[in-house]
Amino acid sequence: MKKLASFLFVLIILSLFGFSSNTPKKSEDETLSERVDSVLSLMSLEDKIGQLNQLSFGIGWGPTIKVAVPDEYKELIRQGKVGSFLNAVGAEFTYELQKIAVNESNLKIPLIFGLDVIHGFKTIFPVPIGEVATWQPEIVEMSAHYQALEAASAGIHWTFSPMVDIARDPRWGRIMEGSGEDPYLGSLMAAARVRGYQENLSDLNIIACAKHYAGYGGAEGGRDYNTVDFSERTLRDVYLPPFKSAVDAGALTLMASFNEIGGIPSSGSKYLLTDILRDEWGFKGFVVSDWGSIGEMIYHGFASDLKHAGQISLNAGLDMDMESRAYITHLKELVDEGKVDEDVIDESVKRILRVKFLLGLFDDPFRYCKKEREQKNIMTEEIKIAALEVARRSMVLLKNEKNILPLKKTYKKIAVIGPLANSETHPLGGWSAMGDSADVTTVVEGFKKYVDKKTEILYSEGCKIDDNSTKGFSDAAKVAKKADVIVLCLGEGRDMSGEAWSRSSLDLPGKQEDLAKELYKTGKPIVVVLMNGRPLSINWLNENVHAILEAWFPGVTAGDAIAKVLFGDYNPSGKLPATFPRTVGQVPIYYNHKNTGRPGDLKNHYTSKYLDLPLTPLYPFGYGLSYTTFNFDNIKLSSNKLSNEDSLIVSVTVKNTGNYDGEEVVQLYVQDLVGSVTRPVKELKGFKKIMLKRGEEKTVQFTIHEKDLRFTAADMKFKSEPGMFKVFVGNNSVDVLDSQFELTE
Ligand code: NOJ
Repeated sequence: MKKLASFLFVLIILSLFGFSSNTPKKSEDETLSERVDSVLSLMSLEDKIGQLNQLSFGIGWGPTIKVAVPDEYKELIRQGKVGSFLNAVGAEFTYELQKIAVNESNLKIPLIFGLDVIHGFKTIFPVPIGEVATWQPEIVEMSAHYQALEAASAGIHWTFSPMVDIARDPRWGRIMEGSGEDPYLGSLMAAARVRGYQENLSDLNIIACAKHYAGYGGAEGGRDYNTVDFSERTLRDVYLPPFKSAVDAGALTLMASFNEIGGIPSSGSKYLLTDILRDEWGFKGFVVSDWGSIGEMIYHGFASDLKHAGQISLNAGLDMDMESRAYITHLKELVDEGKVDEDVIDESVKRILRVKFLLGLFDDPFRYCKKEREQKNIMTEEIKIAALEVARRSMVLLKNEKNILPLKKTYKKIAVIGPLANSETHPLGGWSAMGDSADVTTVVEGFKKYVDKKTEILYSEGCKIDDNSTKGFSDAAKVAKKADVIVLCLGEGRDMSGEAWSRSSLDLPGKQEDLAKELYKTGKPIVVVLMNGRPLSINWLNENVHAILEAWFPGVTAGDAIAKVLFGDYNPSGKLPATFPRTVGQVPIYYNHKNTGRPGDLKNHYTSKYLDLPLTPLYPFGYGLSYTTFNFDNIKLSSNKLSNEDSLIVSVTVKNTGNYDGEEVVQLYVQDLVGSVTRPVKELKGFKKIMLKRGEEKTVQFTIHEKDLRFTAADMKFKSEPGMFKVFVGNNSVDVLDSQFELTE
């Protein structure tokens, strides 16, 4: 009897886990679906609608920490009228909110807490465009991993990142938040960030949200939120690949964008949200709107009122409503009137519940709210070292005349001048979550820490970032005259790029260029350090100062990282992820443009060019110098033909010909010479960052497959077409060696 009982017990246990001999084993996905369905079956329509509602905690925008939960919010949570909060931060604070949800609401469904963790939670890393300038997806992944660890330790489940919007117009301030202008680089970085945030999902990381789906970076005139209108081919070949890559890497959520494309706002686009995302790509996660973007379809002139907007968005496939309150206010009525089918709501709810299950919140709703972890995991030495590593790798050396850099350690006096020289706030950059300027090392501090007692660091602000006063010039000149070298820290304010921070000029704001001219008169060598969130047009600097280091906004370790790079402790290896124009008038300017029927030719009037500008940008995509020099030679192809089944190997010899060990990014581009539709003059298809010791030589190989050559052809199929291709290898998109091959049938 006892034996039989234990046998039965084993059977029951086995069958519970799907191991019984005659029941086929359930996949994890099936088990998950069953759990989701079982919760759904308990829900009233009102409960379901509540799950689709996301509210920002606190009044207005921005993270809120350690605030008592107002009664209004308590009541909403108790009534199950909110499925997620954004901007509620902190292990204890999120615990308070979660406790109400799981103890006092009818169905006890846990909340998801989201936050814009864009380049760090508390330990602020370089702004995303800077991280991408490393051209090292593994570094970007590592950064995302640490950002996730900090955020997860402070109660956050979900970051609204990565921003994977392609940006070809630096007037658009959000270029700072993305990966620049190239779909290939952008796709690799999108996947790296998704992995870094959420791989092996546990309570030590967070889920990703690829945004802004889609085309948001194509805003006309670079003005944020503006109309977007490009062809479906451009959408598919340029703007969508990073989203597809994020989805393939497992991103559990996406955010719908504010903009319209060709007359259809993304937040109401069934084509984007269902046909492409779910039907073509098989995305199983959920989509959240951007802030108020459902309601904004009224201003777009696409919905007559909030109710109509809710109807359009829900039916298009937009699952969660961030702050429009269209769903919570009108969905019930829309179902009653037969304008929205409850089954459609069910699908959205299921997608959200699924993610809550994957986060483990049904098993332990408080797993992210542990005070001890918050104390242990935030701003640790390990994370600060990682931030410094990313920061120094993100910097791009744009000019180095007469090898003024690296700075000599024997200098007696160094003048560190400029509005960004001793700023504690600006190096954080925009979207810096809980970042604190008190944690920032300024350039002046970094230099003082770095040099020994024999070197004096002098400082003068010179001018503000963005006003017209020149009052500080004379002091700056006085300080400069005493020094052996001037390190001039110029750029933009942290609030000049990011959301709604578009500029019509790409020049240095305020009187900064005049300050540089004033200091130039001293005859002292000038090394410019730029901190900014977008490509700038810096022609005068390029022509006149000795050296320029693009440091972006490096985050909390700014001063340390800049000192290390300028003194040669780290040999710069960053490359530009976006073209630097000569003037704003060249915009949009990007390397992977089309040839036109009349390619620009200065000697021929009737060609595509400006009368008053060279054809080229100031610095091309992929550009960046090193303290050493590299020679590229001997480009070879394993064959001059490539068939569908084969692959082709492109090899090149790279030699370090200078005086320092250094890293180089070897870049591979192709051009499809004739297509059923016109093709870009170059497209990045691969890159490798290699380390070469002084005098060392390496052969670098790339493999090209037929699938790398696919695009949206005339019949709108994604495929390659047989014919001739050019292949280029170089250390930026312009200085290249080239060869040719044929893609055969
Ligand atoms: C609006 C921004 O466009 C988006 O990127 C951000 O995630 C949300 N606000 C939430 O803060």
